Amino acid sequence: MPPKTKAPRKSSTTAKRAPKAAAPTGVSDDRLFELRWQRGRRDLIGPLARLYGETTAIEPLLDRLRSLLDQHWQERPADLRLLDLERDLTPDWFLSEEMVAYVFYIDKFAGRVTNIAGHIPYLKDLGVTYAHMMPCLKPRPGASDGGYAVMDYREINPDLGTMAEFQMATLQLRASGISTCIDMVLNHTAKEHEWAVKARAGDPFYQAFYRMFDDDTLPKAYEATLLEIFPDQAPGNFTFYPDIGPKGKWVWTTFNEYQWDLNWANPEVFLAIVDTMLFLANKGVEVFRLDAVAFMWKKMGTQCQNLPEVHDILQALVQAIRVTAPAVIHKAEAIVGPADLVPYLGTGRHAGKVSNLAYQNSLMVQFWSSLAARDTRLMTYVMKSHFPESFRHACWATYIRCHDDIGWAITEDDTAHVPMMTGPGHRKFLADFYTGNFPMSFARGADFQVNEETRDRRTNGSFASLAGLEQACEAGDDVAVSLAIARILMGNALIASYGGVPLLYMGDEIGLTNDYAYADIPEQAGDSRWMQRTAMDWDALNTANRIDWPGPRIHAGVRHIIAVRKSTPQLASDVPTRVRDLGNPALFVFDREGGDCTVTCVFNFTESEQRVTPWALKLTPGKDYEDLLSKTPLALTQGQIVVPPYAALWFRAVE
Ligand code: GLC
Repeated sequence: MPPKTKAPRKSSTTAKRAPKAAAPTGVSDDRLFELRWQRGRRDLIGPLARLYGETTAIEPLLDRLRSLLDQHWQERPADLRLLDLERDLTPDWFLSEEMVAYVFYIDKFAGRVTNIAGHIPYLKDLGVTYAHMMPCLKPRPGASDGGYAVMDYREINPDLGTMAEFQMATLQLRASGISTCIDMVLNHTAKEHEWAVKARAGDPFYQAFYRMFDDDTLPKAYEATLLEIFPDQAPGNFTFYPDIGPKGKWVWTTFNEYQWDLNWANPEVFLAIVDTMLFLANKGVEVFRLDAVAFMWKKMGTQCQNLPEVHDILQALVQAIRVTAPAVIHKAEAIVGPADLVPYLGTGRHAGKVSNLAYQNSLMVQFWSSLAARDTRLMTYVMKSHFPESFRHACWATYIRCHDDIGWAITEDDTAHVPMMTGPGHRKFLADFYTGNFPMSFARGADFQVNEETRDRRTNGSFASLAGLEQACEAGDDVAVSLAIARILMGNALIASYGGVPLLYMGDEIGLTNDYAYADIPEQAGDSRWMQRTAMDWDALNTANRIDWPGPRIHAGVRHIIAVRKSTPQLASDVPTRVRDLGNPALFVFDREGGDCTVTCVFNFTESEQRVTPWALKLTPGKDYEDLLSKTPLALTQGQIVVPPYAALWFRAVE
């Protein structure tokens, strides 16, 4: 049965929530919808025709889409319609320097959805304006890839709460100026999802929702060029299910066996997902994290990642959602190399029309690379040569750690620009260093998905443990503790100033170290990513309870960095970021060139003091400067600026 996209439904709640009366401007809500549809239609036709034009008549598809969008518009609550209006007037609202995100697991942060409200004061105090609740829709029972195998997109995980409670939480957050973000898993559903269950039972309509094959001829042919995402725990990209049909079927399962890849070449999938997303948007979701988007389109003979059609799908989704819910923005999760990453923020015909945010994973990898090597040359080269200085209606989501592993995405082409460095050599060094298996390493971490064939090794560990805090605290070495804290604060200052929305990952703001308990939990034991999915330690904020614990120091530092960011307009995400090569391999430097003045950000990636001339930083002679973070006037020592070990300095001329 196709998804319900026929006549717009007028439920009783509709009548209550969406009065038909004209606004004082004389523009009725229906007229508003029509105007937005006309605006969006232009940007929908192209991608839909390219994606589905060969097999489907586009006008009837557009008609079905329009009535689906209208149906959700009729159901959209009045307060969200107001937010839509506000953001239609200020579409670049998310580019403000005021935006700061916090990423948390509901159970580990608050226990249940209903307790989130109690922690709003904490979030507000930290300066947070966007709360990403990690996977919270109903997962399959048992192992669920941390919730990324969704069984029902219209229900909240019953262990966390109900949809009504979730809706209430979004309302409470919104009232405090915090937008709710949740994960929308687009590449696959759990095999227990209603669509998959029907497909498995033989329903051809739903079988076409997935990529199913009668025998292994095509899977083998695809496999020839595909990569393996979980070579350890889930090798291969296809799974044979003997119980589907008389002879069984092969199902495309890029991730785990229980995560079935959706068939985005089928327009019914597109409509069904739009339907689902708008259902959630009407519950108060303001930001969708679009999970694993790189994998959505498949083409024989390719790696089936980052294909051009993915950007058509994204444009069609984003523009469709915008018709009904212009308050909503989208963040693409594509952890890919620079050349493949940039298009997720819109290039060429997609400029300004696809995801509004995308993870800046190169900055993350390069932060760790420079920290281990005490050498920023690779970082400076990569960040300077591969990324535009700004985007249209889009920006980065900057981060240092998240719930996933770190993939050492460092290419031979890039290492070739650094004398004595090779791709395989540097990747091995980083994996060794961050698992603590390198002489003098300060880190504590673990290998992840070691691929014997390609020698690829990814790394897990919390921000604090990778930055040296775990080892330093264990050794009771105060100097090492201070160095680890300085590294952590430098990382925070980097993501707060580089350009984009900084994502603070829960617990990092208080220096939580690796959690090794996962090894005793059967469903988690095989996946060391659980190491960095620690429960929030509210006690750690209280110095009185934990005299030796540096959590409060880190927290105060992060809070301060965020506060300074929020009062510095030059750090807004639409201000160009210009990376500078000063020829000093200890420093990473960029300018944020705001309208009437520039903020110059300097980071020292070593434990030795560095010196740099004002001339090299291109500071204007005769002007007085101050470091915004320490609020101290720039002072020269023998004509040079002193950059202390692991310092982050943000210079701006004093008016
Ligand atoms: C994303 C998630 C990751 C998950 C994968 C499959 O990369 O961040 O945790 O395993 O998607 O859904």
